[in-house]
Amino acid sequence: MRKPLIAGNWKMHGSLSQAKSLVDGIKQHAAQYADIDILVLPTFVHLYIVHELLKGTAIGLGAQNLYLGAQGAFTGEISAAMLADIGCRYVLIGHSERRTIFHEDVELTAAKFKAAIEARLIPILCIGETREEREQGETNNIIQKQLDPIIHSAGIDAFRHAVIAYEPVWAIGTGLTATPLQAQEAHAYIRQIIMKNNVDIAKTIRILYGGSMKAENAVSLLTQPDIDGGLIGGASLDAASFLKICAAASQEAAALKAH
Ligand code: PGA
Repeated sequence: MRKPLIAGNWKMHGSLSQAKSLVDGIKQHAAQYADIDILVLPTFVHLYIVHELLKGTAIGLGAQNLYLGAQGAFTGEISAAMLADIGCRYVLIGHSERRTIFHEDVELTAAKFKAAIEARLIPILCIGETREEREQGETNNIIQKQLDPIIHSAGIDAFRHAVIAYEPVWAIGTGLTATPLQAQEAHAYIRQIIMKNNVDIAKTIRILYGGSMKAENAVSLLTQPDIDGGLIGGASLDAASFLKICAAASQEAAALKAH
């Protein structure tokens, strides 16, 4: 059984005091959802304080990006080793905002994925199609084009320690959500690609859905057989709405256990 993972991607949001109160709010109730993994991904400048505040809880910490190498003359960048050193366990790789706004191509994404693995961070590899690509029937093609080079460059074994997030670009921050069926189809396809490389990893790897997941649609998405959690943007900035999604995931985990 795959343990559901609910990850809050805070993006470039929040002041120091907002970050603190968001963590406080999540901490107050997270312990009742011990059957799922909960993770927050604050901005770089809030990572350390959030790490301190999370001490003694089971809530995980991750970063939203990294750069290559352990250290060096890369003004403005942060390495995987630095993230691991201050207590991060996870890192987002290849988020569509990195790919589009910051022009990160598949080679850089693959190198960042490897850098995360080498530093023993768990990469959350984000993939997904644009609206145009979906309308042209290219969804599976795009998924394959984004996933294959990473498998090729890092090796399939690296995926034992990785998470994949399917995030249709047209659903991110738009209020539009993939239907449970659309999401399930994409997730099943992703698992099939992993399966062709390694059956065991395909069975155990967690594939999260991201793109306007919120309390209202979490149950219908999380009950799909190949959806193992969520990568939550907007709805992760409010403790109560984030916790409602955690509750939905926890319910699903309990239902799976009872089977
Ligand atoms: P959203 O963002 O939930 O605000 O759509 C998801 C993401 O980009 O990870």
